[in-house]
Amino acid sequence: MTDDGFLNLLDHDSFVNGVPHATFARLRKEDPVSWNDGDGDIKGFWSLTRHADISLANKENAIFSSAQGIRLEDQSPEEYLARRTFQETDQPEHTAVRRTVNPNFAKPTVAKFESLIRELASDIVEKALQSPEFDAVDAIAKQLPMLMLGRILGVPDEDLDWLVEKGDALIGNSDPEFTDHVVDKMDTSAYRMMPFRSPAGLELYDYASDLLANRRAVAEDGILAKMMRDENGLDELGFKNFFCLLVAAGNDTTRYSIAMALSLLAHNPELIAHLRSGQYWNTCADEFVRLASPTMHFRRTATRDYTLHGKTIREGDKVLLWFVSGSRDEAVFENPNDCDLGRSPNRHLAFGQGGPHVCLGMHLAKLEVRIALEELLKRVDTFEAIDAPTWTRSNFICGVKQQYVRATKVA
Ligand code: HEM
Repeated sequence: MTDDGFLNLLDHDSFVNGVPHATFARLRKEDPVSWNDGDGDIKGFWSLTRHADISLANKENAIFSSAQGIRLEDQSPEEYLARRTFQETDQPEHTAVRRTVNPNFAKPTVAKFESLIRELASDIVEKALQSPEFDAVDAIAKQLPMLMLGRILGVPDEDLDWLVEKGDALIGNSDPEFTDHVVDKMDTSAYRMMPFRSPAGLELYDYASDLLANRRAVAEDGILAKMMRDENGLDELGFKNFFCLLVAAGNDTTRYSIAMALSLLAHNPELIAHLRSGQYWNTCADEFVRLASPTMHFRRTATRDYTLHGKTIREGDKVLLWFVSGSRDEAVFENPNDCDLGRSPNRHLAFGQGGPHVCLGMHLAKLEVRIALEELLKRVDTFEAIDAPTWTRSNFICGVKQQYVRATKVA
């Protein structure tokens, strides 16, 4: 679909050629609080597209609540209660759980993983480079987040391909390449009590139940074992939903950030030269994540009437915070569509910064992006795109699905 500035944000097909940036640029300029009619099961919603407005709504969690769902789908109270994770709660409930999980993902804790990430990344890159031509998403971007997530959770390597396949089916539930149960193309009401309204949610629940019943091995020092030992922690349903959240959130997002970086490098040799200068390793990950902004929006629900730029959002209305648009707002970023590896400060919103739900895994994700690129550039002489990238079909998760490259190894 060609982006003429007027694409419908509800339609997953508006995203098949990548993010419709012209549409977002027009909305930021002309209609920053814009109403989108619903369709079928999905009720209409508001879109916030400017950096300042998204930041405000993200901070004002009492007015823009997460506690009625964070995706576009409308859930009955029963469905919400069955599927919610702490991401779908407000203070004080959210704060209490967040406090227990935070230490596992804090910057100093994550920094200890640096050598493990490097070891995994160097193996992955070596393997990829055994062929002169390969899909960089499949061979590199997909592999590192999956292996790291496995190590952090403490699940065995042999389960990882399966877990990633299920995570893809959850988060990519509108892309026929990832699921047979495409949400906008068939009736998925039988799965309405499952995470992401997907049968993959049921399989992941079963896996989590096996963990809880000790029918499956889990590493003692992994997060899952720690959470299972924590008596004040989550109940059974809470644990299962948290497990699904990590499998979905910890995987594709980082994959698509690395994929965006690899695609940009493969198409722009000057970026490779800049990175090789060594000046940009501390800033490049944020810039690649800004440009990728893989989870394009999260939803809030207004708890009271609220007027912004002359529009009145009514109590109960759904409001989408389009982080992907805020991260390219020309009012905040100079040349927002350029990849400026030294951009600093980089006030992008791709991790939902500024709100109570700011990404738990952001330090881990950024470290993975940087190290994957460092290990790649150590080993390649040339790294060039063979064709254009292909994109996910989703108005929620955006990413480069395939990027074929030709690479030569350093002598
Ligand atoms: C580049 C990679 C990533 C991106 C772009 C990303 C993006 C986001 C965003 C935008 C939010 C805010 C959601 C909201 O406002 O409701 C979020 C929350 C979250 N992320 Fe990430 N994420 C990434 C990687 C990860 C990783 C690696 C993990 C875990 C291993 C993770 C786990 C979570 C969790 C658990 C939350 C919910 C936090 C809460 O509600 O307090 N994410 N992420």
